[in-house]
Amino acid sequence: MAATADVRISVNGEAHEDSVEPRLLLVHYLRDTLGLTGTHVGCDSTNCGACTVHLNGEAVKSCTVLAVQADGAEVKTIEGMAAAEDKLHPLQEAFWNKHGLQCGYCTPGMIMAAADLLERNPNPTEDEVRHGLEGNLCRCTGYHNIVRAVLEAANAPSSETVDASSPPNPEARHEIAKGVGA
Ligand code: FES
Ligand code: FES
Repeated sequence: MAATADVRISVNGEAHEDSVEPRLLLVHYLRDTLGLTGTHVGCDSTNCGACTVHLNGEAVKSCTVLAVQADGAEVKTIEGMAAAEDKLHPLQEAFWNKHGLQCGYCTPGMIMAAADLLERNPNPTEDEVRHGLEGNLCRCTGYHNIVRAVLEAANAPSSETVDASSPPNPEARHEIAKGVGA
């Protein structure tokens, strides 16, 4: 039987204690152990950014971090972005408004990377947004609407959350809150 290590990790404000194989990647811990499938796997090799989460407040690609390296840390995933189950984070709302997604596979990682960018630079220029998201790949949108969405969110009140159940399409809005294409 493979050796295991005990980890204590806070995810979206909830404490978790688990025994994990030392080789287990953080992204697989989040998806397979905790069932938080909003964090996606696009490449497993640090290229695409689909697996981006916040580790102690900073965006990281969770396919490059071992779960044991996150022992004692605070992790936030796309599921933890909105203030409540029926709300959207302003970035989620802006991606919705500006059509910043098509298949949605890259979207959770884009939003986590964009949130980190706006935390460090609340009023970025278009060039700064493009530079800040260069580690996140999208095969669908051509990036223009993603950049527009981040710029719109930069101008939204930081404490604002939006009702995710409001018309016209509550089911689709719920998907963007949880990470589309899981
Ligand atoms: Fe982590 Fe692509 S799955 S960077
Ligand atoms: Fe499809 Fe970005 S919306 S990969």
